[in-house]
Amino acid sequence: MSAQVVRETDFANLRLVNRGKVRDIYEVGDNLLIVATDRVSAFDVVMNDPVPDKGKVLTKLSVFWFKRLASIVDNHLISADPDEYPESCTPYKEQLADRSMLVHKARPLPVECVVRGYVSGSGWLEYRELGSISGISLVEGLEESSQLPEPIFTPATKAAQGTHDENISFEDVSNIVGEDTAKEIKRISLVLYQNGRDLASRNGIIIADTKFEFGFVDDHLMLIDEVLTPDSSRFWPMDGYKPGGAQKSFDKQFLRDYLNSIDWPKEPPPPKLRPEVIQITRDKYLEVLERLTGKGL
Ligand SMILES: Nc1ncnc2c1ncn2[C@@H]1O[C@H](COP(=O)(O)OP(=O)(O)O)[C@@H](O)[C@H]1O
Ligand SMILES: [Mg+2]
Repeated sequence: MSAQVVRETDFANLRLVNRGKVRDIYEVGDNLLIVATDRVSAFDVVMNDPVPDKGKVLTKLSVFWFKRLASIVDNHLISADPDEYPESCTPYKEQLADRSMLVHKARPLPVECVVRGYVSGSGWLEYRELGSISGISLVEGLEESSQLPEPIFTPATKAAQGTHDENISFEDVSNIVGEDTAKEIKRISLVLYQNGRDLASRNGIIIADTKFEFGFVDDHLMLIDEVLTPDSSRFWPMDGYKPGGAQKSFDKQFLRDYLNSIDWPKEPPPPKLRPEVIQITRDKYLEVLERLTGKGL
């Protein structure tokens, strides 16, 4: 296993179709090669300093969940083993190891399927003010980080780069993707969350909320992107969980808290990250991987 840090890839033989905040995406035949780099973003700004091995953690976790959740919904994963990729990928095998997936190319639905099991983040702000989250009325008396009586579906738009996601109603989702598809992605998202939450809770992790993406391959609905990772979810240690305030977390919250503490205006250019901030962030990602899958890198 190489300890190589990958901040950006440049695979000259392959056509780059997109560089997201975290992933470099290439076209390989009819499929896509998704490479999770070690880039880290916070407040929608990509930091200059990478977090070593982060892309491997995200990939290993997503592959773990894709396999585990496959009976609930089909997903885009074809293979995560570079030995099985087409020959055009061979020159890049070392960089691809453990951090890439060959996937079916989908037409992504332009909605983020957020499921919340706990009151946190923008959900807490809305609840405190209006007693609802994304327009869904909730029981009185919930505190910050309280568990909801049952998980709720709180979709958002998929914002273009440089802008922030915006919460939308279920009706908005129906208008965007059609009513049947809207019902289906809501139903599946709730089942996926419940399943993930059950497994995580047996390993001492609370999945407070998460985001799924779906797409169509021909007429076939599939789960795409990444699944139940620290980048797409809020993970809290069960040990020490206490409603009534913010929780310690295994995700990017540590980095966000640091960025809040240094008075950075949350727009480019990103600040230089201190080595210990990178180290602690890396440790948190690795701990989630180990706890959830029972295996390290
Ligand atoms: N199977 C797929 N087909 C097409 N697009 C996909 C597929 N899986 C993921 N994507 C897209 O690839 C991108 C992943 O890269 P990422 O760096 O996470 O981007 P972002 O900055 O949008 O989060 C997302 O825009 C996602 O919608
Ligand atoms: Mg993403």
